[in-house]
Amino acid sequence: MSQFRAAFLVAANDFAGCTPLVLCWMLAFLPIVVVLALITSPLLAQNPPVPPPDESNYVGVDVCQGCHEDSYNSFMKSAHAATLKSKSAATRGCEGCHGPGAEHANAGGDPERIERYSGVKADVILARCGRCHDRDMGKPHTDAHLSCLTCHSPHHSRPRTPLLVKPAQELCRGCHATVPSLGAHR
Ligand code: HEC
Ligand code: HEC
Ligand code: HEC
Ligand code: HEC
Ligand code: HEC
Repeated sequence: MSQFRAAFLVAANDFAGCTPLVLCWMLAFLPIVVVLALITSPLLAQNPPVPPPDESNYVGVDVCQGCHEDSYNSFMKSAHAATLKSKSAATRGCEGCHGPGAEHANAGGDPERIERYSGVKADVILARCGRCHDRDMGKPHTDAHLSCLTCHSPHHSRPRTPLLVKPAQELCRGCHATVPSLGAHR
Protein backbone atom coordinates (compact mmCIF):
# COMPACT_ATOMS: atom_id res chain seq x y z
CA MET A 1 0.00 0.00 0.00
CA SER A 2 2.81 2.39 0.85
CA GLN A 3 4.06 2.47 -2.76
CA PHE A 4 0.61 3.56 -3.88
CA ARG A 5 0.51 6.27 -1.20
CA ALA A 6 3.93 7.54 -2.29
CA ALA A 7 2.92 7.48 -5.93
CA PHE A 8 -0.23 9.39 -5.05
CA LEU A 9 1.70 12.07 -3.14
CA VAL A 10 4.31 12.45 -5.88
CA ALA A 11 1.61 12.66 -8.50
CA ALA A 12 -0.40 15.17 -6.49
CA ASN A 13 2.72 17.28 -5.89
CA ASP A 14 4.05 17.15 -9.48
CA PHE A 15 0.74 18.24 -10.85
CA ALA A 16 0.07 20.90 -8.21
CA GLY A 17 0.20 23.69 -10.78
CA CYS A 18 -1.58 21.76 -13.47
CA THR A 19 -5.17 22.49 -14.61
CA PRO A 20 -7.78 21.20 -14.92
CA LEU A 21 -6.91 19.24 -11.79
CA VAL A 22 -9.02 16.14 -12.49
CA LEU A 23 -7.42 15.55 -15.90
CA CYS A 24 -3.94 16.00 -14.45
CA TRP A 25 -4.54 13.40 -11.73
CA MET A 26 -5.82 10.95 -14.31
CA LEU A 27 -2.64 11.44 -16.32
CA ALA A 28 -0.53 10.92 -13.19
CA PHE A 29 -2.14 7.54 -12.50
CA LEU A 30 -2.06 6.38 -16.12
CA PRO A 31 1.18 4.33 -15.67
CA ILE A 32 -0.35 2.41 -12.74
CA VAL A 33 -3.47 1.62 -14.77
CA VAL A 34 -1.35 0.42 -17.70
CA VAL A 35 0.76 -1.83 -15.43
CA LEU A 36 -2.37 -3.34 -13.82
CA ALA A 37 -3.85 -3.97 -17.26
CA LEU A 38 -0.67 -5.72 -18.41
CA ILE A 39 -0.60 -7.96 -15.31
CA THR A 40 -4.26 -8.99 -15.51
CA SER A 41 -4.67 -9.46 -19.29
CA PRO A 42 -2.86 -12.85 -19.53
CA LEU A 43 -4.93 -14.12 -16.58
CA LEU A 44 -8.14 -13.08 -18.32
CA ALA A 45 -6.96 -14.70 -21.56
CA GLN A 46 -6.43 -18.02 -19.73
CA ASN A 47 -9.98 -17.93 -18.33
CA PRO A 48 -12.37 -17.23 -21.21
CA PRO A 49 -15.80 -16.30 -19.77
CA VAL A 50 -17.75 -19.11 -21.58
CA PRO A 51 -16.28 -22.60 -20.92
CA PRO A 52 -16.60 -25.17 -23.74
CA PRO A 53 -19.50 -27.67 -23.22
CA ASP A 54 -18.51 -30.78 -21.22
CA GLU A 55 -18.60 -33.69 -23.66
CA SER A 56 -16.40 -35.99 -21.55
CA ASN A 57 -19.37 -38.22 -20.61
CA TYR A 58 -19.77 -39.22 -24.26
CA VAL A 59 -17.53 -41.90 -25.83
CA GLY A 60 -18.66 -41.99 -29.46
CA VAL A 61 -20.04 -44.71 -31.72
CA ASP A 62 -16.72 -46.56 -32.25
CA VAL A 63 -16.52 -47.50 -28.56
CA CYS A 64 -20.11 -48.83 -28.57
CA GLN A 65 -19.39 -50.81 -31.73
CA GLY A 66 -16.64 -52.71 -29.91
CA CYS A 67 -19.23 -54.50 -27.72
CA HIS A 68 -22.46 -54.14 -29.74
CA GLU A 69 -21.67 -55.15 -33.32
CA ASP A 70 -25.30 -56.05 -34.24
CA SER A 71 -26.74 -52.78 -32.90
CA TYR A 72 -23.99 -50.90 -34.69
CA ASN A 73 -24.78 -52.64 -37.99
CA SER A 74 -28.53 -51.93 -37.85
CA PHE A 75 -27.78 -48.34 -36.87
CA MET A 76 -25.36 -47.82 -39.77
CA LYS A 77 -27.92 -49.18 -42.28
CA SER A 78 -30.67 -46.84 -40.97
CA ALA A 79 -31.46 -43.18 -41.59
CA HIS A 80 -30.01 -42.49 -38.11
CA ALA A 81 -26.46 -42.88 -39.43
CA ALA A 82 -27.04 -39.28 -40.57
CA THR A 83 -26.71 -38.20 -36.92
CA LEU A 84 -22.98 -38.99 -37.10
CA LYS A 85 -22.62 -35.58 -38.76
CA SER A 86 -24.05 -33.77 -35.71
CA LYS A 87 -21.67 -31.25 -34.11
CA SER A 88 -22.97 -31.99 -30.60
CA ALA A 89 -22.11 -35.31 -28.88
CA ALA A 90 -25.57 -35.30 -27.26
CA THR A 91 -27.26 -35.71 -30.66
CA ARG A 92 -24.62 -37.89 -32.38
CA GLY A 93 -24.72 -41.66 -33.01
CA CYS A 94 -25.85 -44.15 -30.36
CA GLU A 95 -25.69 -41.61 -27.57
CA GLY A 96 -28.27 -39.37 -29.26
CA CYS A 97 -30.86 -41.99 -28.21
CA HIS A 98 -29.12 -43.84 -25.33
CA GLY A 99 -27.62 -40.82 -23.55
CA PRO A 100 -24.00 -40.35 -22.44
CA GLY A 101 -22.26 -43.76 -22.42
CA ALA A 102 -18.90 -43.24 -20.66
CA GLU A 103 -20.04 -44.65 -17.28
CA HIS A 104 -21.68 -47.65 -18.95
CA ALA A 105 -18.63 -48.39 -21.10
CA ASN A 106 -16.13 -47.92 -18.24
CA ALA A 107 -18.17 -50.29 -16.05
CA GLY A 108 -17.76 -53.04 -18.66
CA GLY A 109 -21.34 -52.50 -19.90
CA ASP A 110 -23.40 -52.09 -16.69
CA PRO A 111 -26.95 -52.03 -18.15
CA GLU A 112 -28.14 -49.75 -15.28
CA ARG A 113 -25.89 -46.95 -16.51
CA ILE A 114 -27.32 -46.42 -19.99
CA GLU A 115 -30.72 -45.26 -21.25
CA ARG A 116 -32.60 -48.45 -22.13
CA TYR A 117 -35.96 -48.80 -23.85
CA SER A 118 -37.47 -51.96 -22.39
CA GLY A 119 -40.12 -51.26 -19.75
CA VAL A 120 -39.95 -47.50 -20.31
CA LYS A 121 -43.13 -45.39 -20.29
CA ALA A 122 -44.49 -43.69 -23.41
CA ASP A 123 -43.78 -40.14 -22.22
CA VAL A 124 -40.09 -40.97 -21.60
CA ILE A 125 -39.79 -42.46 -25.09
CA LEU A 126 -41.49 -39.39 -26.57
CA ALA A 127 -39.04 -37.14 -24.72
CA ARG A 128 -36.00 -39.09 -25.98
CA CYS A 129 -37.12 -39.29 -29.61
CA GLY A 130 -38.25 -35.68 -29.18
CA ARG A 131 -34.62 -34.55 -28.79
CA CYS A 132 -34.63 -34.51 -32.59
CA HIS A 133 -38.19 -35.20 -33.80
CA ASP A 134 -41.62 -33.60 -33.59
CA ARG A 135 -43.36 -35.39 -30.68
CA ASP A 136 -46.82 -34.94 -32.14
CA MET A 137 -48.28 -38.36 -33.08
CA GLY A 138 -51.72 -36.89 -33.60
CA LYS A 139 -54.39 -36.65 -30.90
CA PRO A 140 -56.04 -40.12 -31.16
CA HIS A 141 -52.77 -42.03 -30.77
CA THR A 142 -51.45 -39.70 -28.07
CA ASP A 143 -54.68 -40.06 -26.05
CA ALA A 144 -54.42 -43.84 -26.45
CA HIS A 145 -50.86 -43.67 -24.95
CA LEU A 146 -49.12 -45.10 -27.97
CA SER A 147 -45.41 -44.31 -28.22
CA CYS A 148 -43.10 -43.93 -31.19
CA LEU A 149 -41.96 -47.51 -30.51
CA THR A 150 -45.47 -48.92 -30.93
CA CYS A 151 -44.85 -48.48 -34.65
CA HIS A 152 -41.11 -47.81 -35.08
CA SER A 153 -37.97 -49.74 -34.17
CA PRO A 154 -34.49 -48.26 -34.70
CA HIS A 155 -32.76 -51.67 -34.62
CA HIS A 156 -35.34 -54.33 -35.61
CA SER A 157 -37.44 -52.74 -38.32
CA ARG A 158 -38.90 -54.39 -41.37
CA PRO A 159 -39.20 -52.67 -43.74
CA ARG A 160 -36.17 -50.53 -42.92
CA THR A 161 -37.80 -47.37 -44.24
CA PRO A 162 -39.30 -45.66 -42.30
CA LEU A 163 -38.12 -48.00 -39.53
CA LEU A 164 -41.52 -49.65 -38.97
CA VAL A 165 -41.94 -52.69 -36.71
CA LYS A 166 -44.12 -54.33 -39.41
CA PRO A 167 -45.29 -53.43 -42.91
CA ALA A 168 -47.70 -50.50 -42.47
CA GLN A 169 -50.99 -52.22 -43.45
CA GLU A 170 -50.29 -55.16 -41.13
CA LEU A 171 -49.29 -52.76 -38.37
CA CYS A 172 -52.50 -50.73 -38.52
CA ARG A 173 -54.64 -53.85 -38.83
CA GLY A 174 -53.31 -55.00 -35.48
CA CYS A 175 -55.60 -52.37 -33.88
CA HIS A 176 -57.96 -51.19 -36.63
CA ALA A 177 -60.54 -53.39 -38.32
CA THR A 178 -60.27 -51.27 -41.42
CA VAL A 179 -56.98 -49.56 -42.24
CA PRO A 180 -57.47 -45.78 -42.00
CA SER A 181 -55.61 -43.33 -44.22
CA LEU A 182 -51.91 -44.19 -43.99
CA GLY A 183 -50.59 -40.89 -42.59
CA ALA A 184 -50.19 -42.25 -39.06
CA HIS A 185 -49.05 -38.97 -37.45
CA ARG A 186 -51.71 -36.37 -38.22
C1 HEC B 1 -32.84 -43.59 -32.96
C2 HEC B 1 -32.52 -43.95 -31.62
C3 HEC B 1 -31.45 -44.99 -31.40
C4 HEC B 1 -30.16 -44.98 -31.85
C5 HEC B 1 -29.49 -43.95 -32.72
C6 HEC B 1 -29.53 -46.16 -31.32
N1 HEC B 1 -30.42 -46.87 -30.57
FE1 HEC B 1 -30.08 -48.61 -29.57
N2 HEC B 1 -32.05 -48.77 -29.11
C7 HEC B 1 -33.01 -47.84 -29.42
C8 HEC B 1 -34.32 -48.39 -29.12
C9 HEC B 1 -35.63 -47.68 -29.28
C10 HEC B 1 -34.12 -49.71 -28.64
C11 HEC B 1 -35.18 -50.77 -28.29
C12 HEC B 1 -35.23 -51.80 -29.41
C13 HEC B 1 -35.77 -51.24 -30.72
O1 HEC B 1 -36.84 -50.62 -30.69
O2 HEC B 1 -35.13 -51.40 -31.78
C14 HEC B 1 -32.67 -49.90 -28.63
C15 HEC B 1 -32.05 -51.05 -28.19
C16 HEC B 1 -30.68 -51.19 -28.07
C17 HEC B 1 -30.00 -52.33 -27.45
C18 HEC B 1 -30.67 -53.52 -26.78
C19 HEC B 1 -30.72 -54.70 -27.75
C20 HEC B 1 -31.80 -54.57 -28.77
O3 HEC B 1 -31.49 -54.69 -29.98
O4 HEC B 1 -32.96 -54.34 -28.41
C21 HEC B 1 -28.65 -52.10 -27.55
C22 HEC B 1 -27.54 -52.99 -27.05
C23 HEC B 1 -28.50 -50.84 -28.27
N3 HEC B 1 -29.74 -50.32 -28.56
C24 HEC B 1 -27.28 -50.29 -28.59
C25 HEC B 1 -27.13 -49.25 -29.51
C26 HEC B 1 -25.87 -48.89 -30.13
C27 HEC B 1 -24.55 -49.55 -29.85
C28 HEC B 1 -26.14 -47.85 -30.98
C29 HEC B 1 -25.19 -47.13 -31.91
C30 HEC B 1 -24.42 -47.99 -32.82
C31 HEC B 1 -27.56 -47.54 -30.86
N4 HEC B 1 -28.12 -48.43 -29.99
C32 HEC B 1 -28.21 -46.52 -31.55
C33 HEC B 1 -32.78 -46.57 -29.93
C34 HEC B 1 -31.61 -46.18 -30.59
C1 HEC C 1 -17.11 -52.99 -22.67
C2 HEC C 1 -18.19 -53.41 -23.50
C3 HEC C 1 -19.32 -52.41 -23.71
C4 HEC C 1 -19.25 -51.14 -24.23
C5 HEC C 1 -18.01 -50.35 -24.61
C6 HEC C 1 -20.61 -50.69 -24.36
N1 HEC C 1 -21.47 -51.64 -23.90
FE1 HEC C 1 -23.47 -51.56 -23.84
N2 HEC C 1 -23.57 -53.30 -22.82
C7 HEC C 1 -22.50 -54.12 -22.58
C8 HEC C 1 -22.96 -55.29 -21.82
C9 HEC C 1 -22.08 -56.43 -21.36
C10 HEC C 1 -24.33 -55.10 -21.62
C11 HEC C 1 -25.30 -56.02 -20.84
C12 HEC C 1 -25.66 -57.22 -21.65
C13 HEC C 1 -26.51 -56.87 -22.81
O1 HEC C 1 -27.64 -56.44 -22.59
O2 HEC C 1 -26.03 -56.98 -23.96
C14 HEC C 1 -24.69 -53.85 -22.26
C15 HEC C 1 -25.98 -53.34 -22.30
C16 HEC C 1 -26.34 -52.23 -23.06
C17 HEC C 1 -27.70 -51.75 -23.24
C18 HEC C 1 -28.95 -52.33 -22.60
C19 HEC C 1 -29.50 -53.41 -23.46
C20 HEC C 1 -30.88 -53.81 -23.01
O3 HEC C 1 -31.01 -54.93 -22.53
O4 HEC C 1 -31.80 -52.99 -23.12
C21 HEC C 1 -27.65 -50.68 -24.08
C22 HEC C 1 -28.81 -49.83 -24.55
C23 HEC C 1 -26.26 -50.47 -24.41
N3 HEC C 1 -25.50 -51.42 -23.78
C24 HEC C 1 -25.80 -49.47 -25.23
C25 HEC C 1 -24.46 -49.11 -25.36
C26 HEC C 1 -24.01 -47.90 -25.99
C27 HEC C 1 -24.90 -46.87 -26.64
C28 HEC C 1 -22.64 -47.90 -25.89
C29 HEC C 1 -21.71 -46.80 -26.33
C30 HEC C 1 -21.96 -45.51 -25.69
C31 HEC C 1 -22.26 -49.10 -25.19
N4 HEC C 1 -23.39 -49.81 -24.89
C32 HEC C 1 -20.96 -49.46 -24.89
C33 HEC C 1 -21.21 -53.91 -22.97
C34 HEC C 1 -20.72 -52.71 -23.49
C1 HEC D 1 -30.11 -37.45 -32.24
C2 HEC D 1 -31.23 -37.11 -33.06
C3 HEC D 1 -32.30 -38.18 -33.23
C4 HEC D 1 -32.95 -38.88 -32.24
C5 HEC D 1 -32.76 -38.78 -30.73
C6 HEC D 1 -33.89 -39.72 -32.90
N1 HEC D 1 -33.83 -39.52 -34.26
FE1 HEC D 1 -34.97 -40.42 -35.66
N2 HEC D 1 -33.96 -39.43 -37.13
C7 HEC D 1 -32.94 -38.54 -36.93
C8 HEC D 1 -32.39 -38.13 -38.22
C9 HEC D 1 -31.27 -37.12 -38.43
C10 HEC D 1 -33.12 -38.84 -39.19
C11 HEC D 1 -32.95 -38.76 -40.69
C12 HEC D 1 -33.78 -37.64 -41.20
C13 HEC D 1 -33.71 -37.49 -42.66
O1 HEC D 1 -33.16 -38.35 -43.34
O2 HEC D 1 -34.27 -36.48 -43.11
C14 HEC D 1 -34.11 -39.64 -38.48
C15 HEC D 1 -35.07 -40.44 -39.09
C16 HEC D 1 -36.04 -41.16 -38.42
C17 HEC D 1 -37.10 -41.94 -39.06
C18 HEC D 1 -37.34 -42.06 -40.56
C19 HEC D 1 -36.51 -43.22 -41.03
C20 HEC D 1 -36.53 -43.39 -42.52
O3 HEC D 1 -36.07 -44.46 -42.94
O4 HEC D 1 -36.94 -42.49 -43.23
C21 HEC D 1 -37.84 -42.50 -38.06
C22 HEC D 1 -39.06 -43.38 -38.21
C23 HEC D 1 -37.24 -42.09 -36.80
N3 HEC D 1 -36.16 -41.28 -37.05
C24 HEC D 1 -37.71 -42.49 -35.57
C25 HEC D 1 -37.08 -42.20 -34.36
C26 HEC D 1 -37.50 -42.75 -33.08
C27 HEC D 1 -38.64 -43.69 -32.87
C28 HEC D 1 -36.66 -42.19 -32.14
C29 HEC D 1 -36.63 -42.45 -30.65
C30 HEC D 1 -36.43 -43.85 -30.26
C31 HEC D 1 -35.72 -41.33 -32.84
N4 HEC D 1 -36.01 -41.38 -34.19
C32 HEC D 1 -34.74 -40.59 -32.24
C33 HEC D 1 -32.48 -38.09 -35.73
C34 HEC D 1 -32.87 -38.58 -34.49
C1 HEC E 1 -49.43 -45.53 -35.16
C2 HEC E 1 -48.09 -45.80 -35.64
C3 HEC E 1 -47.04 -44.71 -35.52
C4 HEC E 1 -46.65 -44.05 -34.37
C5 HEC E 1 -47.23 -44.18 -32.99
C6 HEC E 1 -45.55 -43.18 -34.79
N1 HEC E 1 -45.31 -43.34 -36.11
FE1 HEC E 1 -43.86 -42.41 -37.19
N2 HEC E 1 -44.61 -43.23 -38.91
C7 HEC E 1 -45.59 -44.16 -38.96
C8 HEC E 1 -45.86 -44.50 -40.38
C9 HEC E 1 -46.91 -45.49 -40.87
C10 HEC E 1 -44.99 -43.70 -41.14
C11 HEC E 1 -44.93 -43.61 -42.64
C12 HEC E 1 -45.93 -42.56 -43.02
C13 HEC E 1 -46.00 -42.32 -44.49
O1 HEC E 1 -45.18 -42.85 -45.22
O2 HEC E 1 -46.89 -41.56 -44.85
C14 HEC E 1 -44.19 -42.92 -40.18
C15 HEC E 1 -43.18 -42.04 -40.53
C16 HEC E 1 -42.29 -41.45 -39.63
C17 HEC E 1 -41.13 -40.68 -40.00
C18 HEC E 1 -40.62 -40.41 -41.41
C19 HEC E 1 -41.52 -39.51 -42.16
C20 HEC E 1 -41.57 -38.16 -41.56
O3 HEC E 1 -42.67 -37.75 -41.11
O4 HEC E 1 -40.54 -37.47 -41.48
C21 HEC E 1 -40.54 -40.26 -38.83
C22 HEC E 1 -39.32 -39.38 -38.67
C23 HEC E 1 -41.36 -40.75 -37.74
N3 HEC E 1 -42.41 -41.48 -38.25
C24 HEC E 1 -41.08 -40.55 -36.40
C25 HEC E 1 -41.96 -40.88 -35.37
C26 HEC E 1 -41.78 -40.46 -33.99
C27 HEC E 1 -40.61 -39.64 -33.49
C28 HEC E 1 -42.84 -40.93 -33.30
C29 HEC E 1 -43.16 -40.69 -31.83
C30 HEC E 1 -43.27 -39.29 -31.46
C31 HEC E 1 -43.69 -41.68 -34.23
N4 HEC E 1 -43.11 -41.60 -35.47
C32 HEC E 1 -44.86 -42.35 -33.90
C33 HEC E 1 -46.26 -44.71 -37.89
C34 HEC E 1 -46.19 -44.26 -36.59
C1 HEC F 1 -51.47 -50.20 -30.80
C2 HEC F 1 -52.74 -49.97 -31.45
C3 HEC F 1 -52.76 -49.08 -32.65
C4 HEC F 1 -52.03 -49.20 -33.81
C5 HEC F 1 -50.94 -50.19 -34.13
C6 HEC F 1 -52.52 -48.18 -34.71
N1 HEC F 1 -53.51 -47.46 -34.10
FE1 HEC F 1 -54.56 -45.95 -34.92
N2 HEC F 1 -55.63 -45.73 -33.23
C7 HEC F 1 -55.48 -46.51 -32.09
C8 HEC F 1 -56.42 -46.06 -31.08
C9 HEC F 1 -56.60 -46.67 -29.69
C10 HEC F 1 -57.13 -44.98 -31.64
C11 HEC F 1 -58.22 -44.14 -30.97
C12 HEC F 1 -59.52 -44.88 -30.93
C13 HEC F 1 -60.10 -45.07 -32.31
O1 HEC F 1 -60.46 -44.08 -32.92
O2 HEC F 1 -60.19 -46.23 -32.77
C14 HEC F 1 -56.61 -44.79 -32.98
C15 HEC F 1 -57.07 -43.85 -33.87
C16 HEC F 1 -56.59 -43.68 -35.15
C17 HEC F 1 -57.08 -42.69 -36.09
C18 HEC F 1 -58.17 -41.68 -35.83
C19 HEC F 1 -59.51 -42.34 -35.74
C20 HEC F 1 -59.98 -42.88 -37.08
O3 HEC F 1 -60.32 -44.10 -37.15
O4 HEC F 1 -60.06 -42.10 -38.03
C21 HEC F 1 -56.37 -42.84 -37.25
C22 HEC F 1 -56.52 -42.04 -38.51
C23 HEC F 1 -55.44 -43.93 -37.03
N3 HEC F 1 -55.61 -44.42 -35.77
C24 HEC F 1 -54.54 -44.37 -37.97
C25 HEC F 1 -53.66 -45.42 -37.79
C26 HEC F 1 -52.75 -45.92 -38.79
C27 HEC F 1 -52.61 -45.35 -40.19
C28 HEC F 1 -52.07 -46.94 -38.24
C29 HEC F 1 -50.99 -47.78 -38.86
C30 HEC F 1 -49.83 -47.06 -39.33
C31 HEC F 1 -52.54 -47.07 -36.88
N4 HEC F 1 -53.52 -46.16 -36.65
C32 HEC F 1 -52.05 -48.01 -35.98
C33 HEC F 1 -54.61 -47.55 -31.92
C34 HEC F 1 -53.70 -47.98 -32.85
